[in-house]
Amino acid sequence: MALPSLGQDSWSLLRVFFFQLFLLPSLPPASGTGGQGPMPRVKYHAGDGHRALSFFQQKGLRDFDTLLLSDDGNTLYVGAREAVLALNIQNPGIPRLKNMIPWPASERKKTECAFKKKSNETQCFNFIRVLVSYNATHLYACGTFAFSPACTFIELQDSLLLPILIDKVMDGKGQSPFDPVHKHTAVLVDGMLYSGTMNNFLGSEPILMRTLGSQPVLKTDIFLRWLHADASF
Ligand SMILES: *[C@@H]1O[C@H](CO)[C@@H](O)[C@H](O)[C@H]1NC(C)=O
Ligand SMILES: *[C@@H]1O[C@H](CO)[C@@H](O)[C@H](O)[C@H]1NC(C)=O
Repeated sequence: MALPSLGQDSWSLLRVFFFQLFLLPSLPPASGTGGQGPMPRVKYHAGDGHRALSFFQQKGLRDFDTLLLSDDGNTLYVGAREAVLALNIQNPGIPRLKNMIPWPASERKKTECAFKKKSNETQCFNFIRVLVSYNATHLYACGTFAFSPACTFIELQDSLLLPILIDKVMDGKGQSPFDPVHKHTAVLVDGMLYSGTMNNFLGSEPILMRTLGSQPVLKTDIFLRWLHADASF
């Protein structure tokens, strides 16, 4: 980059000054934060007294992986292993269980999963991976369903979860991963779900997909190789 030559008159000095000013916004940030990863909006450290909610546990339940806060901020919906919970978090302290609905993978899928050499003790379960607020009366949830992704609407009644009807469970390929360790992401915008995850059992076929709503389903084509096989969502 060529600096403007320094003239003797004050106009050139002024020009240099403005030139420097112009450069300012493009200077690299002073801090050493490095990459441009997502930044948390609020950050608390473990043991910080400002953390309003404390540890919650429920016998027999594990892998509380997916969280969704209700619009009014009073209910925290949690996707766990083979269950979805509604927790009352209106008051500080330990969240109170409002209700919980089971959503296990079917016995048939579990058997098939074990047959494909996956563990019936750690892997062949329904790990909830997507939990979004679909409209005023329904959540939308997806899970790994014993390596056979599935999705369903969950009806709400006064922020309580109503039981999932088995015949309302749909194919969830491209929305939830097959394997609970595969990366995934999903966001609902204007009634449409945009998801990114692995679209096959092996986890070698990344996909971005748009579903729900009135628009046709859109997805990336594996043969065009837009996404690298090791894409991380
Ligand atoms: C897993 O499968 C093994 C062998 O088929 C069986 O003995 C065991 O009870 C199963 N465990 C569970 C949790 O179903
Ligand atoms: C929300 O979506 C569900 C599932 O499509 C539908 O059955 C229900 O009528 C909708 N509720 C409202 C208030 O639009």
